[in-house]
Amino acid sequence: MTALRFTPLTLSNGLTLKNRLVVPPMASQTADVNGLATPATISHYHHLSQSGAGLVMVEYSHVNLAGRSETNQLGAHDDACLPGLTAVASTLHTAGVKTGLQITHCGGKDSAAISSDVMGPSGITVPAYDRVLPTPRAMTVDDINTWQQDFVAAAIRADKAGFDLVEIHCAHGYGINQWLSPLTNQRQDKYGGELENRARILIEIVTQIKQVAPRLAVMTRIPGQDGYPGGLTHADMAQVCQWLVAAGVEILNVSSGIGGWNRPKDKRGEGFLVEDAAPLTGTTTAAVIGVGGIESVDYIETILTTKQVDLVAVGRAILAGPSEFANKVMQA
Ligand SMILES: Cc1cc2nc3c(=O)[nH]c(=O)nc-3n(C[C@H](O)[C@H](O)[C@H](O)COP(=O)(O)O)c2cc1C
Repeated sequence: MTALRFTPLTLSNGLTLKNRLVVPPMASQTADVNGLATPATISHYHHLSQSGAGLVMVEYSHVNLAGRSETNQLGAHDDACLPGLTAVASTLHTAGVKTGLQITHCGGKDSAAISSDVMGPSGITVPAYDRVLPTPRAMTVDDINTWQQDFVAAAIRADKAGFDLVEIHCAHGYGINQWLSPLTNQRQDKYGGELENRARILIEIVTQIKQVAPRLAVMTRIPGQDGYPGGLTHADMAQVCQWLVAAGVEILNVSSGIGGWNRPKDKRGEGFLVEDAAPLTGTTTAAVIGVGGIESVDYIETILTTKQVDLVAVGRAILAGPSEFANKVMQA
């Protein structure tokens, strides 16, 4: 019998992934200060393509220079990024894997205060366990329109560069997470207040991307929940997923929310975020990705066999040695 990790998966838009293994987006800090890919970026993704995963995601890429969170962050904010992004996508395709570009705006999570204009849904500092973040200014409706246009323009660039999908980063306390969360979005207009309003900016972005780039599959990296009291709950996110999939999302990549992607203190063992993903699996037409400290073939097969997730993301265990990981999953 074929091991489940090697079975293909066809998404609801018809895109087929050759197996169930995913390299999740991981910032490589190899871009230049203008957000352009460098030879080091291309070599990094060639390296990751040797992992055996059928889908290799390309790291969080800012949609606007004002939305950067690191100086050497990859960008998708300008047409000048196109040659580099095209080279990255082509390197991965040549190696026989599908690829997607993750796009982001850091909003109030500008950890290095690179931006002179830090903004968010409300003038509320994003809570963080490991640092003190700047207090953003509250965005105007014009700012909201600019963000939406920037996300859509970045998705069009991902399409032109040849990526198979685009992933909107809505997790880890970054910009869109700040819109979804009641901790950071306390607006009184149609973009704040009840959950439907807090999700509006995101659902509108997904809808527009589907209109202008119908070839692209759309993935959202979502929090299963926020890691702070009073934040997004599992029930909130189950509802948001229904809206996302109705708007056209094909993959739900389930991670953590405000508080960041690190292992929660009370979680031990492999798959520390899989229990956040499992309740969403099979509830929509979207494929669900689980992640968090996964490294063994036994664990990967177990969560696929028990249908806790459709796809398994392995980050640091692949980063440590892509070819070694490929050998391990082939031989087991
Ligand atoms: C070096 C590094 C960079 C990361 N950059 C991103 C990123 O750009 N976007 C994102 O959504 N998550 C990012 N993450 C989180 C990973 O995608 C993943 O969720 C996390 O590493 C947990 O999976 P793992 O235990 O298999 O490594 C990063 C993680 C690492 C280690």
